[in-house]
Amino acid sequence: MNMQMVDVVGQYAKIKTEVDEAIHRVLASGQFIMGKDVADLEQEIAAYLGVKHAVACASGTDALQIAMMAMNIGPGDEVITSPFTFVATAETIGILGARPVYVDIDPRTYNIDPAKIEAAITPKTKAIIPVHLYGQPAEMDAIMAIARARGLKVIEDAAQGLGASYRGTKVCAIGDCGCISFFPSKNLGAFGDGGMIVTSDPALADRLRMIAAHGSRVRYYHEVLGVNSRLDTIQAAILRVKAKHLDAWNAERRRAAARYTALLAGTPVVTPFIAPEGEHIFHQYTIRVPERDGLDQRLKEKGIPHAIYYPVPLHLQKAFAMSGYREGDFPVTEQATREVLSLPMHTELTEEQQQFVCTTIREFYAGR
Ligand SMILES: Cc1ncc(COP(=O)(O)O)c(C=O)c1O
Repeated sequence: MNMQMVDVVGQYAKIKTEVDEAIHRVLASGQFIMGKDVADLEQEIAAYLGVKHAVACASGTDALQIAMMAMNIGPGDEVITSPFTFVATAETIGILGARPVYVDIDPRTYNIDPAKIEAAITPKTKAIIPVHLYGQPAEMDAIMAIARARGLKVIEDAAQGLGASYRGTKVCAIGDCGCISFFPSKNLGAFGDGGMIVTSDPALADRLRMIAAHGSRVRYYHEVLGVNSRLDTIQAAILRVKAKHLDAWNAERRRAAARYTALLAGTPVVTPFIAPEGEHIFHQYTIRVPERDGLDQRLKEKGIPHAIYYPVPLHLQKAFAMSGYREGDFPVTEQATREVLSLPMHTELTEEQQQFVCTTIREFYAGR
């Protein structure tokens, strides 16, 4: 059966006329950098999330880096985050000369466990970066309470969570700022790289915009050291078309997730836990499985795409060897890296494809 992990071409086919028109409009304008669509997208995303300001940039990774630069995070500082995330979350902390300090995850949600945060705070701690992993909001009430009591900034890594909400508020609108990725496979994906930082703090927004533009407010006058991080106008125009569909697409993902969960009932597979206070938008549908290597092999034989997000926790990555962490430091995370497996999840997934995936899994376990 022909199946994709993410079907970006199939999704494009559904909105081709609108997308092509938007691309041609930008081509005809000649405004390839900082065109009107970029400013319009910033306003539309800010309104959608319920925040006052949005600053487009070149990627979700840049969004995190620029957010920390705007908060003056650098050498000697510590930033608390999860060891069970994509490398960008901690890489950007390290690149700025600060130290990533990890806190183990909740085994049900795979998100940072707020009960373990206090113990990781030191006088050097400047910020907490909760990650809304797989599209499930982190426990923001508890995280914000700790951050406010200890004078820490909160940077939401919403690369996988755009459109998810927590107690009725969209993620990104809860912390001091939120970081978004428009990588093509994301729930709102461009046709290339892209990112955005959102905040309701006007002073922070001003610094974010300045840092993303070579540290300048007025061209050729540079107040601080910045970076060159821009979203192309073509990408912004495409994203404006796609953003109108985001809520409907996220609802489709939730429906597909519910179908997987029903089809996998009665198997040894642990299906995703959905925390009642959050609205999960299923960037990934990730299960926890016994005998993962065997299942991995069986899915390969049947041509079913799948992935392991993530096979190595950040504290055990070679790139972070200088952090001094060891195996056993974050047992919940380490166990998750051995057991998780993500199934195909996108808006074009059919019931027939999901049935095939789940029958294959069911047959694998029936034979043991
Ligand atoms: C949790 C997380 N943070 C950050 C990023 C970085 O985003 P980008 O690939 O747009 O740089 C990603 C996505 O790849 C991600 O999944």
